Amino acid sequence: MANIKKIAVFTSGGDSPGMNAAIRSVVRTCAYLRIVCVGIYRGYEGMIEGDFVSMNARSVNNIINKGGTILKSARSKEFRTKKGREKAYEQLGFSMIDAFVVIGGDGSFTGALQFNKEFNVPFIGIPGTIDNDIFGTRYTLGFDTALNTAVEAIDKIRDTASSHRRLFFVEVMGRDVGHIALNSGLGAGAEEILIPEEDLGLERLLKSLKRSKARGKTSSIVVVAEGDRTRGKNVYELKEYVEKNLPIYDVRVCVLGHMQRGGAPSCYDRVLASRMGVKAVESLVEGKTNFMTGIIDNQITLTPISEAIKGKTKIDKELIRISDIMTT
Ligand code: F6P
Repeated sequence: MANIKKIAVFTSGGDSPGMNAAIRSVVRTCAYLRIVCVGIYRGYEGMIEGDFVSMNARSVNNIINKGGTILKSARSKEFRTKKGREKAYEQLGFSMIDAFVVIGGDGSFTGALQFNKEFNVPFIGIPGTIDNDIFGTRYTLGFDTALNTAVEAIDKIRDTASSHRRLFFVEVMGRDVGHIALNSGLGAGAEEILIPEEDLGLERLLKSLKRSKARGKTSSIVVVAEGDRTRGKNVYELKEYVEKNLPIYDVRVCVLGHMQRGGAPSCYDRVLASRMGVKAVESLVEGKTNFMTGIIDNQITLTPISEAIKGKTKIDKELIRISDIMTT
């Protein structure tokens, strides 16, 4: 058992639905274990500036269902410098903070690990990003909600695509990975799904679109991950390419963008956040540090942060196969 009397919690990097539920869980677990809890505003920026707020069980009333993060978030340039981290360490010292829980993505975890190396402050990470691109967990906080948001939006696009007999390229988030695209594409019945992990080429795209016309489909949806570059083309260039090579199609582009990061978290994300928050605080109390909470086979797990930031998540190729069968 470690002698942890005061724990700080903050959110860092791109926000994701479920972050508030995770803050709530950390704060309430601290209250349950009679540990003092402090919230840090704006991630590492707030840590450097000492922008702290005392939190008790009542500070997190009515936030389990809220999108965004009540503690705000930021990507701090200053924390990347030694000087910035020194300032942050001083601030934690002034407030007598023994350990912290960081809710964010791999950039936030890399910062925490460096900070721990230099100043030995114990921490646990909770993976919060809609991209689901963190090794060591089957789900990151916000992924499930973002999928539901994307599917709902694509369903609406389908209505207008079908009325006008159009082809829509719908870009979903995912800077480096195609998890949102693959899952929302399958869930929304897309004709093709383009992801950064697999460049299937332009020929295949044209072939598949021609085939769907020949089979009597009058409208189509192609879901494209933000980070996809099929033969080096972004979503607008793909539209131009298809218009040029398949003039039978009236083509439109819709970029869903940041709407995917907002909104009330799904029940799955709320439950996951609650479980991970408890695990994070209990782990610190048990003397553990430099771990990330995760969910694997529905069990809450701990993965060393060093592995979580180095490892890569893999696309489920079976989903690609299923999507191909579904477009028959
Ligand atoms: O990492 C989550 C994410 O939503 C990515 O999918 C996207 O590329 C990026 O954040 C957008 O970042 P920003 O909010 O800084 O534009």
